[in-house]
Amino acid sequence: MLRFGTAGDAVSRWRRRTILRFGFLGVLGLAVSEIAALVVPFIRVNRIEGLGNPVSVGTKAQVLEVFSATNDRPILFREGRFFLLHAPGGIIAAYRKCTHLGCAVPWNDAEDRFHCPCHGSQYEKRTAVVLRIPAPKPLQLFHIAENAEGQLIVDTNPLRVIDRTGEWDPQVIEITDT
Ligand code: FES
Repeated sequence: MLRFGTAGDAVSRWRRRTILRFGFLGVLGLAVSEIAALVVPFIRVNRIEGLGNPVSVGTKAQVLEVFSATNDRPILFREGRFFLLHAPGGIIAAYRKCTHLGCAVPWNDAEDRFHCPCHGSQYEKRTAVVLRIPAPKPLQLFHIAENAEGQLIVDTNPLRVIDRTGEWDPQVIEITDT
């Protein structure tokens, strides 16, 4: 026998459809937000503070004073990712990116040298030349210039580094002690 639905049946069918629709949208929203949480960290451009910009490090006299008071301990400028070093005859700025695979190289007071934690490369205190492999070459250097006010300005653009090989070469010094 043919049976026609009542108004009550139609309402409950509409309710079921609405609940299913919202349930589907809810699950879809959850899935999208989980995928976004997984993917966003990989595609987000890391904020680079300092690196790439000119960094003022004080006057030559101020920097030399710090070196003289600390037995030439390298001075870290974390935001620009470099150390100022008191090279024989002048001041240089060493980019703290390991020339092996790019880890951030820390200064090690106990060893009196730079010691990369990733694979053990070591670099010399005053020149950042390689003391122990696997680093293939010395730490790269940033250019330093003295402005009209006597401030030393380190150019931390990684595309303009001074790339070196082998032994210490005093010709890389741009700010001399005298
Ligand atoms: S990244 Fe420094 S030793 Fe490998």
